[in-house]
Amino acid sequence: APEENIGSLKEQISRVFEESLRITVPDEAEVAPIIAPCARKEAGDYQCNNAMSLWSKIKGKEGVTFKGPQPVGKAIMENLPPTDMIESCSVAGPGFINVILSRQWIAQSIQRMLTYGIDTWAPRLPVKRAIVDFSSPNIAKEMHVGHLRSTIIGDTLARMLEYSNVEVLRRNHVGDWGTQFGMLIEFLFERFPDGKVNDQDIGELETFYKASKQRFDGDAEFKARAQQAVVSLQGGDERYRKAWAQICEISRNGYEKVYQRLGVRLEEKGESFYNPFIPQTLDLLRQKNLIEESEGAQVIFIEGKKIPLIVVKSDGGFNYASTDLAALWYRLNEEKAEWIIYVTDVGQREHFDMFFTAAKRAGWLPAEEGQYPRTSHVGFGLVLGDDGKRFRTRSTEVVKLVDLLDEAKIRCKAALVERGKAAEWTAEELEQTAEAVGYGAVKYADLKNNRLTNYTFNFDQMLNDKGNTAVYLLYAHARICSIIRKSGKDIEALKKEGQLVLEKDEERKLGLHLLQFAEVVEEACTNLLPNVLCEYLYELSEKFTSFYSVCQVVGSPEETSRLLLCEATAVVMRKCFHLLGITPVYKI
Ligand code: ARG
Repeated sequence: APEENIGSLKEQISRVFEESLRITVPDEAEVAPIIAPCARKEAGDYQCNNAMSLWSKIKGKEGVTFKGPQPVGKAIMENLPPTDMIESCSVAGPGFINVILSRQWIAQSIQRMLTYGIDTWAPRLPVKRAIVDFSSPNIAKEMHVGHLRSTIIGDTLARMLEYSNVEVLRRNHVGDWGTQFGMLIEFLFERFPDGKVNDQDIGELETFYKASKQRFDGDAEFKARAQQAVVSLQGGDERYRKAWAQICEISRNGYEKVYQRLGVRLEEKGESFYNPFIPQTLDLLRQKNLIEESEGAQVIFIEGKKIPLIVVKSDGGFNYASTDLAALWYRLNEEKAEWIIYVTDVGQREHFDMFFTAAKRAGWLPAEEGQYPRTSHVGFGLVLGDDGKRFRTRSTEVVKLVDLLDEAKIRCKAALVERGKAAEWTAEELEQTAEAVGYGAVKYADLKNNRLTNYTFNFDQMLNDKGNTAVYLLYAHARICSIIRKSGKDIEALKKEGQLVLEKDEERKLGLHLLQFAEVVEEACTNLLPNVLCEYLYELSEKFTSFYSVCQVVGSPEETSRLLLCEATAVVMRKCFHLLGITPVYKI
């Protein structure tokens, strides 16, 4: 029978304290336990921090006999229901309760996960359906490293939410609408009067874009035609719609290649999709008296902001903000999303702040933070080159994504060949490993930093096999797999018959860290911070190294138990890789 999910370690500890709090202060309605990992690891594993705040709440009340926070803490401890989870507790200072978990219980919990699968450790989140709006490049313009960051970070967030049983709509909000299309279409007509174009003809769309922009800026007559073309396109003229669709399709084919290589799934609903919903959306906002005239444009003034949010330009056209308002309306009302997450560079924070505020004033979103339905802007910093400036290559202004991925793979393959793998492995194995490690390195180098900070793109650093890199972590995982393989034991059989015992300190530390997986993923989801999971993964590999350096596995009397601990570590590492969008390798 499939085991049901009993919640993260923290949740399980909370439940025990919840019961004790009910007994200790029966007159207080629902006191939520405050549980955190111990600040001082010598004191215990977790601590309950309720005593102080509870004391200030109840002191002086009728019938209260406690004489301070410490007795409150003592009482909470004494009222704990019997549980095999806790080995011992102690009260420190003004009522902090330190909890030491039982080794047997930790071991049993890990063994249950091995039996029923890592999905039983999925966090439980208060949302059923979320939208992650990510990647979202602009048609005809090159997909640059900023879009790579959005793609990588967005995909990880989507994966973590999906693992937590949230239905995720992965949305590619591509910039496929707007005035640049007038110019592009007119240029297309000029170049290909018979209307027959294919990918090769246009070649690099970016070059095409640049050439048409040059024409636009240098020729007033062309410019006038281009502006007229926008009107024709937006008016639904068949010929213009077709040309627009053609340009989008060529762009799309280019993006799709990158997504495939990165293993990222996305559903395109570009800006054009929301265009028909803009008038009715703005009407709703007008009914709430949110829209005003200002210098010929229609705007929403936001308290505390000098510049208003423009929703209809002075020429009557719609813009980025009007599209985002319509998209938000659609996502809330048609798609019934409870949490809408937007992944872009921090430079767009103001835009998101403004239209989120507008939506709150319209009553579409609750005013209080953290209430659902809810919107979050996941901002990220710049990708820098070694010179500390915005990442560029010598030949081109923007770095092409595909070139980066190619180079990562080539370098990894060279490193593998140098280590003699070309002779040892099949050509396919070599290719696949180079790809997994190369792409994994690019992703991990991005994800391990707090997303808000800028990070420096450096192949030598990210491909180093020592330190906090994907290469190091993937190899650590492969090494664990090889320990298990070399033991010659059937791990599936051991899972059924063997017993996990956490005798040595290093074994217990590793075991406890494994058990904290769910709450780490939960934190990464709640705060939308993938680096939290990277830190956990790196620490896991360090804890494994400490264990392995003092505990002999194969050939020791504890072999069975230790192989199970190896297996559990490998399972959790693989789940981390999966959530980070990295393909694990099993051999090095
Ligand atoms: N296309 C935009 C850009 O490249 C990102 C779109 C983000 N999503 C949104 N709903 N505004 O900057």
